[in-house]
Amino acid sequence: KVYRASTFAPVNIAVIKYWGKRDAKLNLPTNSSLSVTLSQDDLRTHTTASCSTQYPKDSLTLNGSDQDISGARTQACLAELRTLRRQLEESDSSLPRLASLPLKIVSRNNFPTAAGLASSAAGFAAFVRAIANLYELKSTPTELSRIARQGSGSACRSLFGGYVAWQMGDKKDGSDSVAVEVAPAEHWSDMRAVILVASAEKKDVSSTSGMQQTVATSTLFAERIANTVPRRMQEMEKAIADKDFAAFASLTMKDSNSFHATCLDTEPPIFYMNDTSRAAIRMVDMINSEAGKTIAAYTFDAGPNAVVYYQAHDEAKVAGVFKSVLGDKEGWEGARGKSVEAANT
Ligand code: DP6
Repeated sequence: KVYRASTFAPVNIAVIKYWGKRDAKLNLPTNSSLSVTLSQDDLRTHTTASCSTQYPKDSLTLNGSDQDISGARTQACLAELRTLRRQLEESDSSLPRLASLPLKIVSRNNFPTAAGLASSAAGFAAFVRAIANLYELKSTPTELSRIARQGSGSACRSLFGGYVAWQMGDKKDGSDSVAVEVAPAEHWSDMRAVILVASAEKKDVSSTSGMQQTVATSTLFAERIANTVPRRMQEMEKAIADKDFAAFASLTMKDSNSFHATCLDTEPPIFYMNDTSRAAIRMVDMINSEAGKTIAAYTFDAGPNAVVYYQAHDEAKVAGVFKSVLGDKEGWEGARGKSVEAANT
């Protein structure tokens, strides 16, 4: 007999960035972060988890190719999920003994892996939820976020739709370092994002090692985590509560720039943005100055691709301009920009 469950998990793009760990094993961050979850109709990981006595051992495939399932992060998630299943089985002897069966995990992304498009976030979120569904765990999304965080920090935010905060917590065991919903997608359903793919290649410096180098060497970083981010988290929550796009946009752009400044302040410096990224920034500035108010906000993760947030009623002035002007310009891989809605999970 084969037991099976499937799930989708969406991509989330941080507007207040996670960059720095205080515990690299548990992925405990040096600061809280906040993200917008994108519509899973556009960018998502689909994962099926199954278990059976017929399987020889645990296995994982991504986009059809075999992956190493023995990595510490994947194993940490698996161990947590199996422990929760075992507890269920111990409390109810009628349940099938799934915790001890080999697992087969099959995952598929509909976007380029490791191109700075937050693939590990959707990937680990889907991984954890698919197994939690298979095991019929009663865990809440916040409880699952604690597990997904151990796979990849940003993954904890992909267990919710809409506007999501990852509270850094202060406990050593990480039990309070979890994601919570700040507002559901319906609260500000006009929010849109367009992703401008400057390069779909794998990034040079992974976020995992990049942020460790920043923590170890950047002096700007200390100021960022002590004062800048805590203040911005509060301001961002207020901007979202008030649906104040100008405030949301200003904080989003400042925080992206602050994060990339700490990268440049790292020894040796880390460059995620390139000339194409900088062209996107100038485009957003131009769009905003032509509109006479802030209607677009850029943000960049650990790669050159821009994510531009705007509201649906400004679609023509923002996404339209990007698609017509940059869509076929050299350096951009065609008009890859998609309008993505803030999503429910
Ligand atoms: C720049 O979550 O990929 O996208 O915890 O080591 O897996 P690990 O790092 P990861 O880092 C994401 C960094 C970021 C900012 C963000 O998503 O908040």
